[in-house]
Amino acid sequence: MQSGPLKLGVNIDHVATVRQARRVAYPDVVQAARLCEAAGAQGITVHLREDRRHIQDADVRALRACIQTRLNLEMAVAPEIVRIACDVRPDEACLVPERRAELTTEGGLDVAGNRAGVGEAVRALAECGILVSLFIDPEISQLDAAHALGAPCVELHTGAYCDATGDAAARELERLIQAARHGHALGLQVNAGHGINLENVAGILQMPHLDTLNIGHSIVAHAVMVGLPEAVRAMLGAMAGYQGGRREAGI
Ligand code: PXP
Repeated sequence: MQSGPLKLGVNIDHVATVRQARRVAYPDVVQAARLCEAAGAQGITVHLREDRRHIQDADVRALRACIQTRLNLEMAVAPEIVRIACDVRPDEACLVPERRAELTTEGGLDVAGNRAGVGEAVRALAECGILVSLFIDPEISQLDAAHALGAPCVELHTGAYCDATGDAAARELERLIQAARHGHALGLQVNAGHGINLENVAGILQMPHLDTLNIGHSIVAHAVMVGLPEAVRAMLGAMAGYQGGRREAGI
C-alpha cells in the first residue's frame, strides 16, 4: 500500500556491466550504491542473473552489508537464486522472467500461467522475511494471480509504455493506470519499472497508488554523460606534470 512520497530504487546493474567489461574491481557497485543513497535514492536494486553477466554473488553480499536504505534483489524463479536470496536476505525480492539470450528483462512474469512455480518461490522468500514483489505486465489476470498467491507487492512493467509513441503510448499508459488501480484495490503495494527515463517519467507519474519506481539504465547512462567532463579533467590534471620531454633533453 502506498504511503508517503514516491520512492526511487536505483538499479545499478550497469555499473557492474562496465566493470565486467574488463573484469577489474572498478567501477565499484558498493561505492555506486552509497552515491545513490547520498543523492536521496530510497533503495538500491540489483538483478543477480543466472548467467551473472553483470552483478556477481559477492556484489549482492557486499551491498547487503553496506546499504542503509533498502536492497531489492531482482531474480528469476530459479531454486539456486532463491537459495541465495534466502541466505543474503535482501529487504525485497522481485521475481522476474529470465531468458539467457535477452538484452534485458522482456515482458512480465506469467504468474497466472505458472502458479505452482511462482507460488513456491513466493512462499520460500516470504518465510525468510523478504518482501516479495512480482514483475508483471499491466494485466488484470496477472494482478489477480499475484494476489491469489499471497504476494504483497507487484512491479508493473512499464516497458511497453516507455517504448511506445502517440496513440499507442496513450493506450499503454491507460493500461498501467487501470492496473495500478486494480492492484491497489486488491491491497497490493504497486511499484513500476523498466525503460523509465527523464522524458517519459511524466506519463508514469499519472499512475495512481505508486510506491516505488525502479530505474536503472537511463540513470546510469545519464551519469556517464554528466560525469565525463569531471573524469576527463581529472585525467588531464594527473597528466599535467609531464616532464618526459624535458628530462630526455636533460633540462
Ligand atoms: N524493474 C525490473 C523488474 C527490471 O528487470 C529492470 C531491468 O533490470 C528494471 C526495473 C530497470 O529497468 P531500466 O534499466 O530500463 O530502468
